[in-house]
Order: sequence, then C-alpha cells, then structure tokens
Amino acid sequence: MSKSYDIPERVLERAYIKPGDYNELYEESISNPDKFWGRLAEEFISWEQKWDKVSDCDYSKAQVRWFEGAKLSVCYNCLDRHLETRGDKTAIIWEGNEPGEVKSYTYRDLHREVCRFANLLKAQGVKRGDRVAIYLPMIPELAISMLACARIGAIHSVIFGGFSADSIRDRILDSTCKLVITANQGLRANKKIPLKDTVDRAVDGLDCVEKVLVCRRTDADVTMKEGRDLWIEEQLQNMSAECPCEIMDAEDPLFILYTSGSTGKPKGVLHTQGGYLLYTSVTHKYVFDYHEEDVYFCAADIGWITGHSYIVYGPLCNGATTLMFESIPTYPDAGRYWDVVSRHKVNIFYTAPTAIRAIAKEGREYVDKYDLSSLRILGTVGEPINEDAWLWYYEVVGKKQCAIVDTWWQTETGGILITPLPGAIPTKPGSATKPFFGIKPCIVDSDGNRLEGNNVSGYLCIERSWPGQMRTVYGDHQRFFDTYFSQYPGLYFTGDAAMRDQDGYYWIRGRVDDVLNVSGHRLGTAEIESAIVHSGVVAEAAVVGMPHDIKGTGIYAYCVLKNKDSGDEEDLQKIKEAVREVIGPIATPDCIQFVPGLPKTRSGKIMRRILRKIARGDTEDLGDTTTLADPSVVDQIIAGSKTVKR
Ligand code: PRX
Repeated sequence: MSKSYDIPERVLERAYIKPGDYNELYEESISNPDKFWGRLAEEFISWEQKWDKVSDCDYSKAQVRWFEGAKLSVCYNCLDRHLETRGDKTAIIWEGNEPGEVKSYTYRDLHREVCRFANLLKAQGVKRGDRVAIYLPMIPELAISMLACARIGAIHSVIFGGFSADSIRDRILDSTCKLVITANQGLRANKKIPLKDTVDRAVDGLDCVEKVLVCRRTDADVTMKEGRDLWIEEQLQNMSAECPCEIMDAEDPLFILYTSGSTGKPKGVLHTQGGYLLYTSVTHKYVFDYHEEDVYFCAADIGWITGHSYIVYGPLCNGATTLMFESIPTYPDAGRYWDVVSRHKVNIFYTAPTAIRAIAKEGREYVDKYDLSSLRILGTVGEPINEDAWLWYYEVVGKKQCAIVDTWWQTETGGILITPLPGAIPTKPGSATKPFFGIKPCIVDSDGNRLEGNNVSGYLCIERSWPGQMRTVYGDHQRFFDTYFSQYPGLYFTGDAAMRDQDGYYWIRGRVDDVLNVSGHRLGTAEIESAIVHSGVVAEAAVVGMPHDIKGTGIYAYCVLKNKDSGDEEDLQKIKEAVREVIGPIATPDCIQFVPGLPKTRSGKIMRRILRKIARGDTEDLGDTTTLADPSVVDQIIAGSKTVKR
C-alpha cells in the first residue's frame, strides 16, 4: 500500500474542515441526514418556499425525492441573488482556443445575457417543461443558454460536441426536444468543427424540432434553413434584459444528460432542481475548499456532468469566479493549462488523469516555465489515477504545497461522493479516500452480502440517498430501477469495483459492467459493437477495454467479418468510419482484430472475461474454457492477437 501524504501547511491554514472535524461532521450527517441536509439547505440555497419534508426515498421503488413542497429558481440562486453583493465580481472568465483570447463576465453581465437569452427562448415558443438540446463548443453561450433554460423552467439536454449526427438525433428524439442551440463551427486546436452541418444532418426530417438557434463562433458561412434556423446574435439585439425567474418545484426536472450503460442506447439521466443545486454547491465549497476570492478552473467539458456540476451550477450558486476553457491541454503546446493558471492566477484546478498523463509525457519544462504559486487545490476525476500521474501532479504541478483531491462520482450521482477534504484527510496516491458527508458507501460480494470491516474488496454500492442523486431515466423509470436498484435490493449499485483498505480508505478499481472509461469519456461496449456492425463488413463484434498509457482504457474490438476470414486496410477504415458516424470520434477503436469467431458458451453468451485477458496480453491462464461451444477459437484469437496492430 502506498504511503500517505500529510496535508500541506498552506492548505491546512485556510481550510473550512480541519483534521478531527471530519469524523464528527460525518457521524452527524449519517446519524441524522435530514437534519444535516436541512441545515445546509437553509445555508446554501435561497428558497421561495420551504419544504414539507427533507427526504422521501425508497430504493425498493427507485424513489428518490428531496425537499418536496419547496420552491426555488436555480437561476435566481446562481445569478440574481448575487447582484447586490457580487454584481461587479467576475462570474465567468472565458479563455478561448487561442492563448490570451479572453472574455470576462461579471455577475451583472451574466445576469443580463441570461435574461436576454431566456427572452429569446420564450420568443421562440419555449415554455416551462419543454426540452431544449444544446450542442455547442465551450463558449460562454453554452453556460448562458443552460442558465436561460433554468430561468424559464425549460429542461436542457446538453450534447457533447464530439458526438455524431446519429447520436444527436437519438438524444433529441428520446426527449423530444423542441429547439436546438448550436454554433456555425467550433474551434479545437487547429481544427474547425462543423457543428451546424452536423446538427442539420441530425434534425433532418425530425418533426419535434421547431427551431435551431445558431451562434457565430467563426466567420464561416453555413446554410440556414428558412423558417427554422436563426442567428442568435441578431435575435438577441431585440431582446429585453429583464426576464422574471420561473419558480419551480424542488423536484421539477432541471436537465437531462445522456450517459452510456452496459446495454441498449444511452440513458437520459434526469436531475432535478433543489437537491442537485444543494449537493453541487455544498460539495463545490468543501471538496475544493472554495473561498470567496478564489479563481476556480475546472478544465472539463460542459458536455459532461463534471462541467454541469462544477463549471456551471455548483460554482455559480456559490458566487464563485469560474473559468471556462475552450481549447485542449496540448494546444499550442503541453504548457497550456499552466499558461492559463499563471495568467488568471488560478487557485483551484480540476482535471482528469488522462489529461495529466498526456502532458506529463511531454516533460516538466512545460510546467516549470510558469508561476503556479497561486495554486492551492488540485482535483482529478473520471477514472482511477495511477500512482505515477498522481505523484507528478503533486510534485511537479503542486510543488508538494497543494492538496490533491481525487474525486469519485458519476453522471448519476450529480456530484462528488468519495473524496478527500483538502484540510481534513491525508491522501494516498490512487485512493479517493473517504465518503463525503451524508454518503454511506458499502462493499458487497457477488451475492450481495455486505462486507463489513476493512481490507475488503467487491462491488461498490451506496446505502442511502443524497440530494444530488439522479431521479429517473427520462421516460423509462423501470430502466432506472433495473439498472441501479435491482441487483442488490436496498442499495444503489454504482457499477464500480472498490476496495476499502485498513484505514477505511476507498480505492476505486474501475467498472465491472460493460462500460469503458476512455480518456474519461464513458462509452458502452454494446453501443460500439452495434456501430461496428453498422459498417456493413462485420457480422459480429465484441468490444472490451485494454490498458492504454494515456487514455487509461483503450478500445479493443474483435470483429468477425462477413464472408471472409481476414480483413484488409479498407475493412479497418470502414469499421472506424462507421463508429465515427454512429457515435463520434471518441469511440474509434484503438485496436481492431479480425477473428474467425467469438468465444461463446453453448448458450451463445460471449465470454468477455477471456477477451479482456487477451486484450491485456495476458494469455497464460485464461481460466475455465470448458463451457465454450468451440474452445479452439480461443487459440486462434490468441495467435492473431500477437500480430495485431496496437
Ligand atoms: O468508473 C467510475 C469512473 O467514472 C465512472 C463515471 O463516469 P461518468 O458518469 O462519465 O462521470 C465521470 C465524471 C464524474 C465511474 O463509475 N470514475 C469517476 N471518477 C473516478 C472514477 N474512477 C476512479 N476514480 C475516480 N476519481
């Protein structure tokens, strides 16, 4: 077990929660959660009307409800209420694709822009409860349009800018979005991304989409469909900067965000107003030990939950200065994050292990060039962080003076569940350490027995609800129950394996289902397999994860071709192209092996365990293969795996 690191002095000095406070507060949060969350709800949120009951949850019915009867406006909490005391404080610092391309919005500016945008949505017929799809690059309009939806009670569904037309279409259809917000193009390093063209293909022939609003990010011309498409900048000129907030019930939906699971199409994870806002703001304050004067930079994309919770809602609810970054960590070179940190005097920085590995590989000179003395807290999220990457972050970036917070959570959890608190919990590289207040993790074996005590490994579950938990799968409550509450009755099943060590620290081992975490992007193997078959050249495919130095997990695809045994370059290209078409470039396989058949049991089930081992290059002991219908296929796959291009 790796050594533990004490809390750096400068972190300790300012921390809200000091060593010794954690246990007491944690005990309080667990022994009387309603009292605990009720107290924080009074402290963090401005309510129009108080709740009747703090929580009303029953996992046997997949029922999760918090603060029922209460009323609030999320947008009011993120903007209006700050105007009096923080009107001139910077709310958003936007750093564009080119270094130094900066725009800042004070809380007053942001309030004005959100009101105008909200009026534009209303003018286009968007009403409370309507769904709005947002497919934008990391530009301020992305945060503005989300908050504008919240202001009028519309439900946003942000779609990551790397998804293909087919993926967008599926998401729009699933939640019948009435309006789509996009940009003519996006900019990513040296590339121009044709967002509007992609949206045109996605919505072609869709009856539900009435309007497409387009931002002008570049000067490129795009086709605008008469009667459907409108330029946002032109429309905003006529919009008033006053727009009242729609007052919502605490349990009304706030947004839908699609995420991949082990089966079927991505699920629309639904989060609601009150509990989500409370949970993200409380965790933002304590996990990042956020103070009023801090500059906070979460480098995630708002297309994923990390950006929703920790670029937009949590920080703005706390009146923070949040930095939005449009570019990539290696543009124009591997020093870009540190250039941004030093220019904007960032105190809290949050990124993913895959980004850390990608820049660490380029050498420490890219870090040493910059003055990083403003940094105090360094966060990581999205996948297990290997010890080397952790140490590099701690030593080279943090100069051993910053706290590392390895935060474990999921789209479904809304906010961080297992994490160090910077001033209270000594860290161990690779461990997400301890549960946040109100969170009761448990580890179960495959029969669902709870493994008590320390030094145990198994499946990670959570015993009781917390305010940020998802409420349902949009349009399919049964799927919500089946996916999370059916395996281990009375528990929320996370899909991750974990170990609790001798000190009660949690170590997340990764997914145990057919979900891959590729560069922190979550993808289902079934989705990728179906995209591969869509290429037309493949009869059957099985996708598994393989270790990858930068991405953490790479995609390994075993493909059985139609009518032939061996494939050529053209087949490879067709497969890759199909995946890009159906899902997007993030799902492109890193390794494709043509195989004569897949290892199946006599009942036709693919034995993925064997395929995972072969993909790892671990072919010595494949375990019991006697139940296979045709064991000889395994030897052929092993032989082929030795020569395949990785
Ligand atoms: O496997 C866990 C991994 O990411 C999964 C959730 O993915 P997603 O819903 O896309 O949300 C990612 C951002 C919150 C989890 O089931 N994961 C997330 N954070 C960590 C992690 N694995 C290990 N350590 C983490 N800190």
